[in-house]
Amino acid sequence: MKIVVIQGPNLNMLGHREQNIYGPMKLEEIHAQMEAVAKQNGAEIEFFQSNLEGELVDKIQECLGDADGIIINPAAYSHTSIAIRDAINAVSLPAIEVHISNIFRREEFRAHSMTAPASTGVISGFGPFGYHLAMISLLQMLGEMEAAQKMQEEQAKA
Ligand code: DQA
Repeated sequence: MKIVVIQGPNLNMLGHREQNIYGPMKLEEIHAQMEAVAKQNGAEIEFFQSNLEGELVDKIQECLGDADGIIINPAAYSHTSIAIRDAINAVSLPAIEVHISNIFRREEFRAHSMTAPASTGVISGFGPFGYHLAMISLLQMLGEMEAAQKMQEEQAKA
């Protein structure tokens, strides 16, 4: 089972940028925690961060045939990017959109996510813990899908 974590613009600045909103944790620290959870669950995990919309689209496309699920924080592109939304829809993989802050209690322009309808679920406002919530939700979801597929295969054999 492989999960790809995709981080959008300015998330490489976590720990430095607007600490009052995003907290003191660095992206590498968040990723280290996610890696530990993946290991505990026997899952493979890959991390990718880019400040460029096209690179994020490329990475989502690369997930097709390579990953079982996606955790994505499109950051500012969440509010504008039809291209990222289309890419998530195109690969048709279980995906969870994460926002560290509660996008619904900030500026009005953040309250709408252009990308969210392409994802299976959205987690917003739980700080870096949101990534952990996304991990356990996705692992649970993928586990259920795997079990259902196995059952189908066994039924087909019988
Ligand atoms: C963010 C929220 C976005 O509005 C913002 O542009 C970000 C981070 C979050 O994780 O809370 O860069 O996606």
